[in-house]
Amino acid sequence: MAYETILYAKDGAVATVTINRPKVLNALNPKVVAELGQAFAEVAADDEVKVAILTGAGGKAFVAGADIAAMSVMNPVEARNFSRQLQEVTSFMEALGKPIICAVDGFALGGGTEMALACDFIYASEASKFGQPEINLGVIPGAGGTQRLSRLVGKNWAKELCLTGDIIDVALAKEIGLVNRVFTSEELMPAALKTAKKIASKGRVSTKACKDLINFGFDVPLDHALRMEADAFGICFASPDQKEGMTAFLEKRKAEFKGSK
Ligand code: CAA
Repeated sequence: MAYETILYAKDGAVATVTINRPKVLNALNPKVVAELGQAFAEVAADDEVKVAILTGAGGKAFVAGADIAAMSVMNPVEARNFSRQLQEVTSFMEALGKPIICAVDGFALGGGTEMALACDFIYASEASKFGQPEINLGVIPGAGGTQRLSRLVGKNWAKELCLTGDIIDVALAKEIGLVNRVFTSEELMPAALKTAKKIASKGRVSTKACKDLINFGFDVPLDHALRMEADAFGICFASPDQKEGMTAFLEKRKAEFKGSK
């Protein structure tokens, strides 16, 4: 599919989606958000793709937020619809049965932090900065920031970030659990690709089950979530990859998963 505001590339089982508006630090307007939805639908539909990486072009920003020029002329209904559009795409990413690694090199602000939060985990460069500065514009996060940030880093840090609008460096982002690992700018994409390929080499059914259970078991009572886990554990046994994984262990060799469904 041809895109105007993003780049889509495949390397074996890994698709890389790059937000490509570097002149405005990859700010998210409705066109970018729509194309991100299409790109992740392409990831979902392509059987060859098992893992995706989301990143931003230009080396200065992952995403410096929703596009303030576009938002400045929105009326309340348009703003509400834009927020829903962002939320629908981020929820689609979260529900996608294939992991998404976010590679942040530079600013991830407002909608940028929120887009990263919808991915499964974040790798960042040493120069990266995070924050929810919407309060400085007289608004609030509108792409899930008040909800996903608090679920990941706790209510207290989410409140400090959303209420002050402060921009934090990568060391603090790592300390509070927003970022998994930190690399130099040069090391970032190779590291994301290496991890993506490692995940892509695992069984497809077990990979999807892990992502779904950790995401969707989190907000239901533990007893229910544990039953969901037991059901998914059982479903793994319908996959040839379970036979291969256990047989390989018993035969003292490395498993060769076929990625069966
Ligand atoms: N929207 C639109 N344009 C943006 C933008 C944004 N979020 N962020 C940066 N740009 C544009 C700038 O206007 C500038 O364009 P021009 O060259 O045409 O003037 C260009 O990108 C480069 O930016 P700066 O000159 O500002 O670069 P800097 O290095 O001086 O500052 C920055 C970098 C600190 C990230 C600064 O650009 C900034 O504060 N950006 C806005 C951050 C922000 O408030 N994000 C939250 C948006 S609201 C939101 O995201 C709502 C939501 O949850 C849905």
